[in-house]
Amino acid sequence: MDEPTWDADQAARYDTEHARIDTPLTVAYLAELSGGGDVLEFGVGTGRLAVPLAGKARSVLGVDNSAEMLAAARHRPLPDNLALALGDAQTWTTERRFDLVLCVYNLLLHFTTQDAQLAVVRNAAAHLAPGGHLVVENLHPPLRAMEEGERISTLRLAGAGMAISTQRFDWKSLLLDQSVLYVDEDGHRVRQIAQRMLLPSEQDLMARLAGLRLVRRIANWRGGPWRADSSAPAASNVISVYRRAE
Ligand SMILES: C[S@@+](CC[C@H](N)C(=O)[O-])C[C@H]1O[C@@H](n2cnc3c(N)ncnc32)[C@H](O)[C@@H]1O
Repeated sequence: MDEPTWDADQAARYDTEHARIDTPLTVAYLAELSGGGDVLEFGVGTGRLAVPLAGKARSVLGVDNSAEMLAAARHRPLPDNLALALGDAQTWTTERRFDLVLCVYNLLLHFTTQDAQLAVVRNAAAHLAPGGHLVVENLHPPLRAMEEGERISTLRLAGAGMAISTQRFDWKSLLLDQSVLYVDEDGHRVRQIAQRMLLPSEQDLMARLAGLRLVRRIANWRGGPWRADSSAPAASNVISVYRRAE
């Protein structure tokens, strides 16, 4: 992803459209894994996780390549130990090292080539302190859409809103192209989203190339086990925890 695609309109809507009910659980899980230390979040967005996490960690540094998303984050009351930086997760760098590095809520999938995804994993690994962990959270590969090539799904939003999404999957590029029609009290709008699907096996190989090994794979922030099950609901997750190979 070269150009930021998270514009002012998405930044303004983000906290309503992505008010995930598992945010407190996510924060609790990540805080424990960080050991109360220093956290780096790539794709920090509006600070959904970074702000509450800062209350449980020594410091949080959030990087995002969308000035609009960072501006939305700055509308929140920001704690002193939370810093925000504009940068691309593939290349942004600092001398600092972190106990926990985050590529969560599908960040990796927004990079639409294997090279770009690998660059992010390598960059994340390079910023880990000794004993630190990298956490990657992606949506469960939508096996039915992958099988069928095309799929339509609907989603109920807050209030009377709804979203209708058509998904088209291409095996050659592993790209899932989604066109989402949002309908709510404000009217309707369409959003195109292209994501490169990552099977856990390919992601693990990227992590190995970056000098990491898998230490945990779970399906939700309660720590529930992940099963490669095609009947799993589309919204379920694959959460992977890596640390440096000894
Ligand atoms: C789905 S949002 C997730 C925000 C936040 N992590 C959360 O969990 O709510 C994805 C974020 O990744 C950011 N992003 C996309 N491409 C990026 C890149 N190349 N470098 C850094 N951030 C990027 C977007 O601007 C957006 O804020």
